[in-house]
Amino acid sequence: MLKYQVSQHIQKTVLIPVCRKNRFLSSFYYCFFSKEFSREHQKVLNGKYTHIKALKSNKPNEFHLRRETHRLEKGLTMKEQRPLFALDYINDVVHNYKILNTEYWNNPGSVDTDLLLWSESIISKYFASVDPHPTVSKAKSVFENIKHFKRPKELLEVAAELPVPYFRREREYNSVTYEDMLKLSLQRRSVRWYMDKPVPRDLLEKAVTIATLSPTACNRQPFEFRIFDSEELKNVIGSIPMGIKGFYENIPVFVVVVGKLSAYLSERDRHVIYIDGGLASMSFMLALETLGLSSVPINWPDIEELEKKMENVLHLKDDERPLMLMGVGFADPDQKIPYSQKKSPQYLIKYN
Ligand SMILES: Cc1cc2nc3c(=O)[nH]c(=O)nc-3n(C[C@H](O)[C@H](O)[C@H](O)COP(=O)(O)O)c2cc1C
Repeated sequence: MLKYQVSQHIQKTVLIPVCRKNRFLSSFYYCFFSKEFSREHQKVLNGKYTHIKALKSNKPNEFHLRRETHRLEKGLTMKEQRPLFALDYINDVVHNYKILNTEYWNNPGSVDTDLLLWSESIISKYFASVDPHPTVSKAKSVFENIKHFKRPKELLEVAAELPVPYFRREREYNSVTYEDMLKLSLQRRSVRWYMDKPVPRDLLEKAVTIATLSPTACNRQPFEFRIFDSEELKNVIGSIPMGIKGFYENIPVFVVVVGKLSAYLSERDRHVIYIDGGLASMSFMLALETLGLSSVPINWPDIEELEKKMENVLHLKDDERPLMLMGVGFADPDQKIPYSQKKSPQYLIKYN
């Protein structure tokens, strides 16, 4: 105990003040005196490895196709579209699209067919709109020889050709007013006490549908919603985090948003799972309110012991991390909710 206190004292009075001064010393500190970032390092590296491995061995990599298709689509929406663009990656997009199509034909169900349709549509529009060039011709001839996934006949009438990209005027806007949004935001509060009433899965799925519409970096959507509604499992999940110890058993459903670091090639994107997962979680919680459900976000600090427990229960891969936990259910109207005073904009905004 004494040894621990002395070491803590030295850290606080000597090591931290000195090592914070430059990057080399900071790395030295985190290499020899604190292991706090070590799991993150390993997870990020595992994600990078998985991403590279898939690309190198011609394995399907949906994240890559999403990102590249997104880049092409952005090019198609430029006010003054360049006559030639994407020469440095069009072959790569087509190559990846081909791999995912092949995967679909070999193993239907393993590939998101909406992604294939979106991708096909964007790539076709790209070829139709750029000027002739040997690189484009090469990619085009590969593309034309792909056996494309087609929408099943029975769905053709329902889903007309994908309007990609589309004009803003083609969609209806403004059916939700500011007042509606304010009411919904005031309605959503962290609820910790729930009725003993099962939560229909279709409502959860509807809320996830809204969550999928959140923005994500390069449209990668690097997360999964792992939902636990069986009495036994949801209590196992609920017993892991620290912040809900006194009341987790009364929460009917737990949702763990899991981030996938295999979505990225580069360390510069290592924080994006947290941003994207946070944005999607917020949309999810607001959507729940519109469906009569309530929620509570749950603290998930970076604690090795807890993460290991969660990894075991969820069977997470070595490049996946829990980002966000939420409890969901029908709020018990006879229990109290903390008021939780909010800052007013004047304390939050700094212009220019
Ligand atoms: C990342 C995060 C972690 C949270 N962790 C917990 C938690 O562990 N236990 C809990 O009771 N509430 C938790 N909350 C809820 C906050 O206490 C709550 O959002 C905050 O007090 C504001 O209240 P409101 O959500 O009702 O606006 C968490 C919220 C967030 C965003």
